[in-house]
Amino acid sequence: MNTQMESERLLLREIKNNDWKEIHLYASQSIVCQYQPWGPNTEEETINFVKQVIEDSKLNPRSRYMFALIEKESNRLIGACEINVRDIENQSGEIGYIIHPDYWGKGYGTEAAKKVIQFGFTTLQLHRLYATCDPQNLGSAKVLEKIGLIKEGTLREVIMLKDGWRDSCIYSILKKEWNEISHKGGQK
Ligand SMILES: CC(C)(COP(=O)(O)OP(=O)(O)OC[C@H]1O[C@@H](n2cnc3c(N)ncnc32)[C@H](O)[C@@H]1OP(=O)(O)O)[C@@H](O)C(=O)NCCC(=O)NCCS
Repeated sequence: MNTQMESERLLLREIKNNDWKEIHLYASQSIVCQYQPWGPNTEEETINFVKQVIEDSKLNPRSRYMFALIEKESNRLIGACEINVRDIENQSGEIGYIIHPDYWGKGYGTEAAKKVIQFGFTTLQLHRLYATCDPQNLGSAKVLEKIGLIKEGTLREVIMLKDGWRDSCIYSILKKEWNEISHKGGQK
């Protein structure tokens, strides 16, 4: 299976052990994980995270695919995006993404999310992709809407974050919807 991808400004490749230092540059920042149950990470937590990602990538059947996002221009790792097969029988997967704050607002989140969706529908042959998003995470909601996901609703107080229970919005896109967008030239 080919797990290397390329978009206009990014290379997407599997995470390697020595990526942890660049991953830690953003995973150690509280602004990055304000809507996440984890972090800000210690070095040890980031090292263990990378180890776990690599271990999970060797499982058979494999359900977790995490991609480092390499800015072509600088050759720097500027974030990561992920797809997890959540239900093999019903061909459903979940996507997620993180960008280093120095690179926010440049369209990288959207560019990476489009590629991981393409991977889910083509390489993994999934039927439905979804993402969860904190109602206050306006940047993430915008990324999801821009790439064609539709908001299905809000799960009430479903996640315990550092400051208490949080709602979570669910967004999804079906393969037939993605096909339509792609044929119009909006996704690939
Ligand atoms: C969410 C995140 C990935 C967005 O990345 P990004 O590279 O800045 O996103 P983009 O540049 O592609 O922005 C897409 C749109 O969202 C808007 N946007 C981005 N951040 C925003 C914010 N904080 N508030 C409002 N709008 C925002 C952009 O202006 C852009 O809209 P436009 O095309 O109309 O100008 C990034 O903020 C991040 O890594 N956050 C922390 C991790 C996280 O929350 N991940 C998502 C949970 S899975």
